[in-house]
Amino acid sequence: MCECRLAAGRSHQGRLGLGRQFKAMAAPPSEIGFMLLRDVLWEEIDMKRSAINRYIADAADFFRENHFVLPPYADWTPEEWQQRGSDANELRSERLGWDVTDFNGGHFETMGLTLFTLRNGMPVGGKTAKVYAEKIMFVRQDQVTPFHYHARKTEDIINRGGKGTGRLAVQLYNSTEDRGLAQSPVMVSCDGIQRRVEAGGTVILGPGESITLTPYLYHTFHAINGHGLIGEVSSVNDDDADNYFLEPLPRYPEIVEDEPPFRVLCTEYRLA
Ligand SMILES: [Fe+2]
Repeated sequence: MCECRLAAGRSHQGRLGLGRQFKAMAAPPSEIGFMLLRDVLWEEIDMKRSAINRYIADAADFFRENHFVLPPYADWTPEEWQQRGSDANELRSERLGWDVTDFNGGHFETMGLTLFTLRNGMPVGGKTAKVYAEKIMFVRQDQVTPFHYHARKTEDIINRGGKGTGRLAVQLYNSTEDRGLAQSPVMVSCDGIQRRVEAGGTVILGPGESITLTPYLYHTFHAINGHGLIGEVSSVNDDDADNYFLEPLPRYPEIVEDEPPFRVLCTEYRLA
């Protein structure tokens, strides 16, 4: 039996994502058994809260060791978030803070990402009217962020460097109108220099180097020769609606609550 099955006092439905709950409610009785079995199998690859806690602690250490200082709310406990009033609603509505994902693949070390969003605007406008966003990312060596493009966001991906940090390999394709991989050469700006890259070609970013990823440009990246301290400076970020993965993947993981959260994820805020 998986560990999540042993968690006391939690209903089965309570662990299901909303999409799964709606599907189960709408299913005829003959299909519910199959759906529950499928959910048991899914739970085996869902991210455990204990793992997310550990990945956030690792990332905080990594940022600290490399002298990238996070803002105070990076250290707020779940209790502190609860105690904060509406003065912190900008953080909540713009989804600033911690973001850990394995794209629901169940293999975080090889496909996943740990991010901290430092600033952002609102996708459909808002009081703060910011038109920019910034993230810092901990990309583990050989850990892949899978192929995706953005339809609205333009982003600079930056190797911030650091002691013993690695390089970032960024593979590129133009996209076709039906969201496939085009075989045309890619023209891309790297620190203000235009580069021509063959379809599927890879750009390696050393410390201090960056690449500008424009809308509809497919990209995947992973760190080599060490973990990557990777920055992102972009137009407004909308992770709910502006990620188009080549292989359909959820941007956020399903989570099994096997221990209390160490930090609140940016998807878990409730406006005060
Ligand atoms: Fe991206």
